[in-house]
Amino acid sequence: DWTTGNVIEEQVAAIRAQVGDRRAICGLSGGVDSAVAAALVQKAIGSQLTCVYVDHGLMRKGETEQVEKDFVAATGVQLKVVDASERFLAALKGVSDPEEKRKIIGREFIRVFEQAQAEIIADQGPAVEFLVQGTLYPDVVESGGGTGTANIKSHHNVGGLPEDLEFRLIEPLRKLFKDEVRMVGQELGLPEEIVQRQPFPGPGLGIRIVGEVTGERLDLLREADAIAREELTAAGLDRTIWQCPVVLLADVRSVGVQGDGRTYGHPIVLRPVSSEDAMTADWSRLPYEVLSRISTRITNEVKDVNRVVLDVTSKPPGTIEWE
Ligand code: XMP
Repeated sequence: DWTTGNVIEEQVAAIRAQVGDRRAICGLSGGVDSAVAAALVQKAIGSQLTCVYVDHGLMRKGETEQVEKDFVAATGVQLKVVDASERFLAALKGVSDPEEKRKIIGREFIRVFEQAQAEIIADQGPAVEFLVQGTLYPDVVESGGGTGTANIKSHHNVGGLPEDLEFRLIEPLRKLFKDEVRMVGQELGLPEEIVQRQPFPGPGLGIRIVGEVTGERLDLLREADAIAREELTAAGLDRTIWQCPVVLLADVRSVGVQGDGRTYGHPIVLRPVSSEDAMTADWSRLPYEVLSRISTRITNEVKDVNRVVLDVTSKPPGTIEWE
């Protein structure tokens, strides 16, 4: 019968049989699925696994450290971190259109990840045959159930690699739902902050700045977001809400007053939602005291922000994210 212990035991045996004495690579995103998949594979094959974390500079406060330090401490995994934040900022320079931003972030991400893969293969040799993916059961059903291989185009020419690298996939979470993945992660000893993490978009804070993405704006949004998360956690609301995007309206300014002075600053939008599956959502009726604390702290502590507004739109018609 179903226990997390059985699932882990079964998957560890299956992964060992599949990989043998060869090697695997796994991309970590900071999210639950890739973390649990990597931890399972690590348990099965240890140092035959190398994880890659691309730091695109668009993560929230503390998240990169969570992967670099806490995840590594909990699993002992071999991790290659690529700090690509300058590269992402340069690619995003002057871009305000949401779809354009998403395309650029996705494209740069694949380039950096493939480069890292190629370096690992150049280092470890052709035994690197497997790619770990955190595919869940709902993803399998949605995509028609196929599995097998992934083609990675390598245009980087690191160490004279073939043009097209073909990986075989390891997908240890293919039979699991999200809550089961969380249970497995907990059993594997992963940090609570990773196992219980709410959804966060791959393009990160890049699509939570309405307007051009700059380093300064990212810092500002990171501060505001950290305050909102801190207060929501302190109020015990993490399990009540589905997620709460915090958005910086970088292209909007409004007049305010602080001390004896007039300010002309940016608004921060709070977008707390409740949802079952993110397909539809309702705005969360958060307690006024909590909203008040978040608003006071953000306007006091975050430079250039003089207004906090609440998004009271359901999905549809609004999406959860603003971009
Ligand atoms: P929307 O804004 O479409 O978001 O209502 C639905 C859910 O998906 C998340 N989201 C993303 N997740 N990559 C992701 O991995 C993305 O590009 C992306 N865009 C939105 C969003 O946070 C919400 O949970």
